Amino acid sequence: MKIFLISFIFNSIAIIPSFSCPLHQKQALLHFKSTLTSVINTTSYRFLELKSWNPSSDCCLWERVNCNGTKTVTELHLDGLVVPLPADIDPTPVFSSVLAPLFQISSLKKLDIISPTIQCMGRSPEMDSFSTLQTHISTRGANILNGSVSVEVGKLVNLKSLILGANYLSGKIPEEIGNLTELTEFSLQNNKFVGGIPSSVVNLKKLEILDLYMNCLSMQIPTTIGTLPSLTTLVLSQNQFTGPVLSSMRNLSKLELLRLDYNKLSGEIPTWLFDITTLDLLHIGDSGLNWNNEAKIVPRCNLRRISIPSCNMSGQIPEWISTQNNMYWLDLSNNTLEGTFPDFLAEGKLEIINLSQNNLNGLIPARLFEKNYFSGEIPTSISEANNLEYLDLSNNGLSLVNLPVWGDKLETLDLSYNKFSGNIPVNFPKGIKFLYLGGNRFCGNLPWNLSKLINLQYLDIHENNIQGHLDDILPQIPTPEALILRNNLFKGYILTSISNLSSLHILDISYNNLTGIIPQEITNLPKMVQLMQMTTPYPKFYNIRSVSYYIYPSDLIVNWKQYLRGLPIRNNIKAYSLLDLSHNSIRGEIPSSLGNLKALKLLSISHNKISGHIPVSLGELKNIESLDLSQNEISGLIPQSLLKLNQLAVLNFSNNKLTGKIPVGGQMDTMNVGFENNPGLCGMQIHVTCPEDIPPLKGGDVNEDEKESWFLWEGTWVGFLIGFFSSILIMSYFLDFLRLFKI
Ligand SMILES: *[C@@H]1O[C@H](CO)[C@@H](O)[C@H](O)[C@H]1NC(C)=O
Ligand SMILES: *[C@@H]1O[C@H](CO)[C@@H](O)[C@H](O)[C@H]1NC(C)=O
Ligand SMILES: *[C@@H]1O[C@H](CO)[C@@H](O)[C@H](O)[C@H]1NC(C)=O
Ligand SMILES: *[C@@H]1O[C@H](CO)[C@@H](O)[C@H](O)[C@H]1NC(C)=O
Ligand SMILES: *[C@@H]1O[C@H](CO)[C@@H](O)[C@H](O)[C@H]1NC(C)=O
Ligand SMILES: *[C@@H]1O[C@H](CO)[C@@H](O)[C@H](O)[C@H]1NC(C)=O
Ligand SMILES: *[C@@H]1O[C@H](CO)[C@@H](O)[C@H](O)[C@H]1NC(C)=O
Ligand SMILES: *[C@@H]1O[C@H](CO)[C@@H](O)[C@H](O)[C@H]1NC(C)=O
Ligand SMILES: *[C@@H]1O[C@H](CO)[C@@H](O)[C@H](O)[C@H]1NC(C)=O
Ligand SMILES: *[C@@H]1O[C@H](CO)[C@@H](O)[C@H](O)[C@H]1NC(C)=O
Ligand SMILES: *[C@@H]1O[C@H](CO)[C@@H](O)[C@H](O)[C@H]1NC(C)=O
Ligand SMILES: *[C@@H]1O[C@H](CO)[C@@H](O)[C@H](O)[C@H]1NC(C)=O
Repeated sequence: MKIFLISFIFNSIAIIPSFSCPLHQKQALLHFKSTLTSVINTTSYRFLELKSWNPSSDCCLWERVNCNGTKTVTELHLDGLVVPLPADIDPTPVFSSVLAPLFQISSLKKLDIISPTIQCMGRSPEMDSFSTLQTHISTRGANILNGSVSVEVGKLVNLKSLILGANYLSGKIPEEIGNLTELTEFSLQNNKFVGGIPSSVVNLKKLEILDLYMNCLSMQIPTTIGTLPSLTTLVLSQNQFTGPVLSSMRNLSKLELLRLDYNKLSGEIPTWLFDITTLDLLHIGDSGLNWNNEAKIVPRCNLRRISIPSCNMSGQIPEWISTQNNMYWLDLSNNTLEGTFPDFLAEGKLEIINLSQNNLNGLIPARLFEKNYFSGEIPTSISEANNLEYLDLSNNGLSLVNLPVWGDKLETLDLSYNKFSGNIPVNFPKGIKFLYLGGNRFCGNLPWNLSKLINLQYLDIHENNIQGHLDDILPQIPTPEALILRNNLFKGYILTSISNLSSLHILDISYNNLTGIIPQEITNLPKMVQLMQMTTPYPKFYNIRSVSYYIYPSDLIVNWKQYLRGLPIRNNIKAYSLLDLSHNSIRGEIPSSLGNLKALKLLSISHNKISGHIPVSLGELKNIESLDLSQNEISGLIPQSLLKLNQLAVLNFSNNKLTGKIPVGGQMDTMNVGFENNPGLCGMQIHVTCPEDIPPLKGGDVNEDEKESWFLWEGTWVGFLIGFFSSILIMSYFLDFLRLFKI
């Protein structure tokens, strides 16, 4: 290390005085910089300004530029140079012509354009060959290339790797790709390519990695795939490929990673796959392929990952799986497996088990995750007992009598929609972050020992029969982010100490038996006050031979826009701030400070006994998409301020005691708002003419009694006042008229 460093410094010192990078290369780089600076829209992108790219210095010393020993530019690292800013609108696209000056640098061997890498070895690429990437800079994420790969790509005959992942490239993969015989890695993952895999891939004898994950590719996988002797990684998932798994693929004797999941293939999963001794990771579920339930499999491979969901696998969990003793990932979800949870799953190194949506039944073995189960030793430290981090056993028929000894690495446990009953266990591991127990028959009282679960962030126990006081449970969980307590038998009040839950952004306590009022303090919940920016969700991340995988905890099921639906954790869940207090017996008024909760996307207090007026401050809930006040005893006017809520998709005032004119404008006129059963409401939205909308015909006096009653309506309701006024005018006109008539 030291020697390297010294020689490096020596080199630089020796070279700076005598050489500088070639002028034309410097000019090309400056040209690139000035073009980029002029076209990048800084409201859409964060752009690192390349300050060191200064005409008076040696371009080999510039950031992101690498030269070789003779001061020739050979590498450019432009990754992360332009980063789309998080925004709800698509950023204005920037076209790839900005890259053109770079292609004059003929000595360039490596070029990282934002995220993709084009590695050019050997012969210098001409500018026109680079223009094969009809790139446009656009869109969010790391994605900036937009366009297609032209036939010109066939000129890059010395290219060793072509990685254009995560862009907006479309069109067909050109046949000319077959010219790139030096290619060892070819990745177009996460683009919009269409058509089939060109048969010319047969020429890519050096190809080791072929990754076409997540495109719109279709047709049959060409037979010639089976003749690529060097192939170790074949990822075709998330496309529309059809037809069977070709027997030619038996010849892929170096294959380690095979992903065919999420396609439209047909036929059976060939059993010879398990004869490929090198095979390590197999994802073949949700592909259209069916599991052969009759097959006797004696694997010659030792798989670390087995993912065969949604393949019509039936019977018991197959015994051969027990031979795969390095397995850390098992997904057999959404099949029709039955029987019990096999003991052999306790022996391995499993980190992720997904057996959700099957017909498993029986108990989860009490000592399931205990180490040395078979040697009979009692582990001194359970925390070292296993690697399990993610266990999804949802949607089965499991019941829980003896409590398993959970491993301490377990972060996500999904036991929802089973037949678990009795008290909620108290021995969840300390590390648990996501706990899903919904849709079971858990009962009994709280408290449970939640205070020990210091990492618990998401707790979902909806649809059980859990009783007890909310005041007992809330203080116990130190830092919850989401609490889904819907549809239980909770009673008691919402405590004023709720404002201590500084991370809480989703609270669903609907369908319980809560009483008391909505405490003022709820309006201080910081994560409901301020909208959180896009943050990394919670994926468990694996990178296997340059292919990335993420595992996310299960969706949170909430009542979102009138339907129960899953809110995916992966979808920037932290930006969802929801408060659902509906279907309880909460009384009192809506605290006027509720308008503080500016981050809320959903507020539902429907089906309670709330009275008083709608506070004007609700007009401050500028992110609100669903506001349901229905089925309460709310009186007074609908404030004008609600017209400001332009994100609304659901708005419901029905079954209250609201009165006066419905404000006119915005969403209030255009969307389907629930106004029914408020006998005092009027307005064109419900085709009831307000008294004030009948044109006044003549002036008249207002008697003192009526005047007094105005004060009950608070000074701000000008619209209503005018209405009231004109109705009195009409009445006095009518009396005048009668008088006239008599004469
Ligand atoms: C540097 O790169 C140029 C252009 O590819 C080449 O001609 C030269 O020989 C290289 N020098 C060294 C020391 O590698
Ligand atoms: C920059 O982008 C924003 C948002 O996309 C857009 O409103 C604005 O007009 C753009 N400015 C220019 C100069 O293109
Ligand atoms: C890609 O560029 C085309 C114009 O060449 C444009 O119409 C399209 O919207 C762009 N797509 C994206 C995702 O930026
Ligand atoms: C493919 O390579 C051959 C030489 O091997 C060359 O003649 C032909 O022009 C190349 N095709 C393209 C499209 O570049
Ligand atoms: C597999 O390879 C063998 C010899 O290497 C060859 O004879 C056979 O035709 C190949 N099978 C397929 C289906 O390509
Ligand atoms: C379960 O499998 C069926 C086909 O067997 C499929 O239609 C369904 O989408 C799958 N469900 C999930 C959640 O993957
Ligand atoms: C799954 O198997 C059942 C019979 O066991 C069959 O009726 C059904 O068509 C199969 N599903 C698919 C998608 O092939
Ligand atoms: C577990 O399997 C179910 C059904 O296939 C699926 O919906 C869920 O996303 C899986 N979980 C993970 C983490 O892959
Ligand atoms: C945890 O629960 C057990 C059993 O209910 C109880 O004995 C123990 O005292 C509780 N511990 C704490 C810290 O609440
Ligand atoms: C809430 O927090 C305050 C100060 O942060 C503290 O004094 C109070 O005891 C807490 N209340 C509860 C119930 O934890
Ligand atoms: C709700 O609470 C009230 C009063 O405490 C009680 O009468 C009623 O039975 C409770 N309802 C349920 C479903 O527990
Ligand atoms: C409003 O809520 C009531 C229940 O209180 C429901 O019946 C009605 O369909 C809802 N209307 C709209 C428009 O959402």
